[in-house]
Amino acid sequence: MLMTNVFLREKTLPIGIFDSGVGGLSILREVQKLLPNESFIFIADQKNVPYGEKTEEELNEIVSRIVKYFLKKKVKMIVIACNTATVYTIENIRSKYAIPIAGTVPAIKVLSKVTKTGKVGILATPATSKSLYLAQLCKIHAPNLEIFKVGATHLEEMIEDGNLERNEINDNLEYHIRKLINFGVDAISLGCTHYPFLRDKIEKITGPGVAIVDSGFAVSKQVKKVLEEKDLLSELKNQEDIYYTTGNEKRFRRVAEELLGKKIKHVKKIKI
Ligand code: DGL
Repeated sequence: MLMTNVFLREKTLPIGIFDSGVGGLSILREVQKLLPNESFIFIADQKNVPYGEKTEEELNEIVSRIVKYFLKKKVKMIVIACNTATVYTIENIRSKYAIPIAGTVPAIKVLSKVTKTGKVGILATPATSKSLYLAQLCKIHAPNLEIFKVGATHLEEMIEDGNLERNEINDNLEYHIRKLINFGVDAISLGCTHYPFLRDKIEKITGPGVAIVDSGFAVSKQVKKVLEEKDLLSELKNQEDIYYTTGNEKRFRRVAEELLGKKIKHVKKIKI
């Protein structure tokens, strides 16, 4: 009887999900869509954005601190809603903590399904695009594709400021997407969780001949699979989602509401 109660309680715990900033919201919204009975604690580690400019050692220290924070808050699972943090830390972090951890990586398998020419692109942060981890994923999941990786400088920082209609963002995107188009790709994977918020703009630049894919749905399916396997799926949403930032909470709320197109209730600044 006691066992059953403990188990039930564990199922109702929230899922912890984090990124360096607002990009992780593109993953959160997909997980929320697939798993409406779950509750979430989202952390935007905006004090440390951009992760793409940190060393591997710094990233591991930052991610360790966030994981410990989530453990104190009692979450049942952690989602790294950031490609950069995933490719540089997930193996190390999984080896240190027993809690289930899902990561985010560019959707490479989907690329091989949608391409007709065999030439595909990955748009990511400079750090992700040059990582060995990503190179290995490409080798394993798409050995027959010609994959062109472009590291987009400063794009995630611009998205952090909100107001996506700025020329500065259009110019930056145009520059990086043109590079991929010039390689002749017919599919592009968005390898940074900030970029799905620019999907319309990207599609305008590429035109209809290039498929744009992101990782949100794949991550949400992975989260569901892990929770199912561990018998941890919640049957009823039992608490409101909470949004934490290590940066400025007013700015986070303004930009998050702009990106999600809805009001969010609980935003708090924290120190980690
Ligand atoms: N959203 C993060 C990613 O997916 C951005 C990384 C950064 O802060 O540079 O890689």
